[in-house]
Amino acid sequence: MFKARIIGTGSTTPKRILTNTDLENIVDTSDEWITRRTGIKERRISQKGKGEKAFDLAADASLKALEMAGMGPDEPDLIILGTITPDRQFPSVACMVQDKINAVNANAFDVSAGCSGFLYALSIAENAIATGGSEKALVIGAELLSSVANWEDRSTCVLLGDGAGAVVLGRSDKDEGILSSHLGSDGRYWKLLYSEEGTPDPPKILEAFEGKPYYLAMEGNKLFKKAVKHLADVAMEALRHNNLSGSDVRLVVPHQANIRIIEALADRISLPMEKVYTNIHKYGNTSSASIPIALDEANREGMLRPGDIVLLVTFGAGLTWGASVVRWSLDIR
Ligand code: ACO
Repeated sequence: MFKARIIGTGSTTPKRILTNTDLENIVDTSDEWITRRTGIKERRISQKGKGEKAFDLAADASLKALEMAGMGPDEPDLIILGTITPDRQFPSVACMVQDKINAVNANAFDVSAGCSGFLYALSIAENAIATGGSEKALVIGAELLSSVANWEDRSTCVLLGDGAGAVVLGRSDKDEGILSSHLGSDGRYWKLLYSEEGTPDPPKILEAFEGKPYYLAMEGNKLFKKAVKHLADVAMEALRHNNLSGSDVRLVVPHQANIRIIEALADRISLPMEKVYTNIHKYGNTSSASIPIALDEANREGMLRPGDIVLLVTFGAGLTWGASVVRWSLDIR
């Protein structure tokens, strides 16, 4: 059995910034409410005709990750992309990325697992590398959540943002890279967060994409409690599996859904917030893209050193959740 190690990271967000103050002109809300209840100050929104569709952002993030890995686009043999907002019903965004970056030697497909899409994709790629089915894999999370926002629902539209992140995985025969991945789901609660048929009009101040023929509906309060429980449980399961405790962890990179959820997670696993990476204030909830964007930023900010234990942990629609423990082995300094 081989280990899958992360050898490159990359991310991209659209240029257009939508601030909480902008949102005050769209729904009955305030910067104060959004900041206090969610930690979000602004989010990035894709614009029509600017080359900012999900596959564009995903391709750009992928090229940055490949460049860091020192790998040409023809080298990955596998591309797996997590998304709940594909540009088209079919083909997969992964295949559109394959075309755009000319990754001619890869098998490509998408994974739909709500906000957990990236960690589900990472786990599949990890298994493929561990068992010899793949040598070099590109794993991506890409979302345009703005395209499924209900701009009349203040309890959801203030949360959502757009972006993409990617990692390149290589094969290792050392005890490094992804040590283990742990996934879970409970379909009994899918009605807490789902797509509803309909196309809410985007607000005039946004040159957003046309809405998709569905929008995001959510029971935020119930979901909040489920999120804290499953994030903490799967984080502990992943640490215990590797005989690690919170004090061994250098950095937690959680899904960025709500700062209060992240703080509750840190509290439950007894870690100070200094060991938890957050960028939700800049991007809001970008679903499958949030972990790879945050991991890329932490990496490029020089926060990670070879040997560091990094805990990736997520929760999302489905319900789904997951965690991966990584012994970091990439040094970009
Ligand atoms: N501005 C002002 N007031 C608001 C807003 C807003 N944007 N949104 C809701 N309110 C009001 C409500 O109407 C309510 O008013 P009331 O007391 O008069 O009825 C009050 O604020 C409190 O509403 P709650 O829903 O109880 O607020 P809460 O503190 O739960 O925060 C939130 C809402 C932010 C949605 C939170 O529940 C949350 O983050 N839930 C989890 C989201 C999540 O984890 N999603 C999972 C991943 S997402 C994915 O998979 C795509």
